Amino acid sequence: MVEAFAVASGKGGTGKTTTTVALGMALAEEYDVTIVDADTGMANLLFHTGLTDADVTLHDLLVADERQQTDVAVEDAVYERFGMSVVPCGTSLSAFEDADPERLREVVAELAAGTDVLLLDSPAALGSKSAILPIVLADRVVVVLQPTIPALSDGLKVQEYAHSYGTGTAGVVFNKVHDPEETRGVAEKTERYFDGPTLATVPDADAARSARRAGEPLLAHAPESEAARAYREAAALLDVRSGESGEVADRFRSAVVPDSP
Ligand SMILES: Nc1ncnc2c1ncn2[C@@H]1O[C@H](COP(=O)(O)OP(=O)(O)OP(=O)(O)O)[C@@H](O)[C@H]1O
Ligand SMILES: [Mg+2]
Repeated sequence: MVEAFAVASGKGGTGKTTTTVALGMALAEEYDVTIVDADTGMANLLFHTGLTDADVTLHDLLVADERQQTDVAVEDAVYERFGMSVVPCGTSLSAFEDADPERLREVVAELAAGTDVLLLDSPAALGSKSAILPIVLADRVVVVLQPTIPALSDGLKVQEYAHSYGTGTAGVVFNKVHDPEETRGVAEKTERYFDGPTLATVPDADAARSARRAGEPLLAHAPESEAARAYREAAALLDVRSGESGEVADRFRSAVVPDSP
């Protein structure tokens, strides 16, 4: 039983990875959760989960050239951390260049067979095959935004792409919020334009920055912080729908990867 979410945004640095890890940890209280660094060109999940020294990463599973392939199994790139299964990606540019993004379909299909919730930490820009694939594969997107009108329009573009590939909207997370009052106005508009609810308003918090520096998820580093609490509430609002694992895996395997968005 599995549902796959792409954690996405129109811009870089909005907090996709922070959100992936935080929602993952919160959902792991109830579900079997797997988080995947599907941002294969700008990987940073490894920095948030203390996995900078991981031997095998997603890159090793995506090697395009048959001759370079070693017999790495998907489970070799899965690390049990903070109550979740974590699939980090390496940061080497040459490994990214050697990777075939389409192979992500098979990897995700295999992971889907053994988990309840799959969170795909997705690339910021939507301009290439590797960037949109997580959104194409996911059942629904979680859109992470700063609470400004320009950011909303970026988020709507993400939703539009997602819908054009049959991917729904799970909701919006406002992150790095300085002024909750101002956010309220933006959040009202959000409810009008997005198909999903506002899942959380996460304050701009030193706890989030120091968690990242410590290589730990926010919920492990500062579980009592207001930001951590906001993420737990977001997880509670996320109505996970469980597709039948076999069917979902087949859908991943047969997903058509568009050439450009
Ligand atoms: N609520 C927050 N308050 C303060 N800092 C935050 C918050 N959320 C995230 N950050 C910090 O902002 C930076 C970017 O966050 P993160 O890596 O999660 O963003 P991202 O969207 O995944 O970025 P990229 O597009 O580079 O993958 C990190 O240093 C992180 O610690
Ligand atoms: Mg990131």
